[in-house]
Amino acid sequence: PALQNLAGRNVMITAGPTREPLDPVRYISNHSSGKMGFAIAKAASAAGANVTLVAGPVSLSTPANCSRIDVVTADDMLSACEKLTPSTDIFISTAAVADYKASTIADNKIKKTGDELTLTFIKNPDILAKISGRPDRPFCVGFAAESQHVEDYARSKLVKKKLDMIAANDITVDGLGFNSDKNALHVIWKDGDKRFPATSKNELAEQLVALIAERFALSNKS
Ligand code: PMT
Repeated sequence: PALQNLAGRNVMITAGPTREPLDPVRYISNHSSGKMGFAIAKAASAAGANVTLVAGPVSLSTPANCSRIDVVTADDMLSACEKLTPSTDIFISTAAVADYKASTIADNKIKKTGDELTLTFIKNPDILAKISGRPDRPFCVGFAAESQHVEDYARSKLVKKKLDMIAANDITVDGLGFNSDKNALHVIWKDGDKRFPATSKNELAEQLVALIAERFALSNKS
């Protein structure tokens, strides 16, 4: 059995994509499957945590002993997370949240009229930054999916979003990252870092959860 190093801790995990509607039949989204977040939920629960998954539209079954709230849009995901935050010790943000949503959702199906179609998008809320900016903030772990300058961009997100840790994945490596069963992570915090080479998301989740438990125990949040 796994070390019970998160015994009794409340852990909130976002997972999967968000889906932003354009009209009654269409949406924009991304290729996140939710596998990384669900694997972390399973590992955190095995480490003794009370886990709540806030899941975008994914086709995965809920790991044993985890609670789950299903959401569709970034706005829905934010309100679910805001409600859970006061009772959360650790927030792990693996979701691939759509950065933008349509400025207006058409009431009726958009018709095929011209040769071009222009849509206007507006920024979605940054869920992780909002939660980490609260006075009652939990210990916050972000993810960074990058296709270039992986470490630099991850370090700037760590600072900008006021995170305790960030797990960077290089999404240009074939067979890793979005919608695959494997991943590799470079985890960075203020005064250290650790590289986890490519392996199954389940194994990686166990290694990451052990590291999070270690850093959390050393933080002023524990
Ligand atoms: O779901 P899988 O198929 O298993 O794939 C896993 C994954 C590649 C999606 C995952 O490992 C991952 O990297 N997730 C973060 C993806 C991402 O889009 O990161 P980002 O660099 O846009 O965002 C940085 C951080 O802010 C993330 O923790 C993200 O959850 C959070 N964020 C971003 C935008 C936003 N509006 N709200 C947020 O909370």
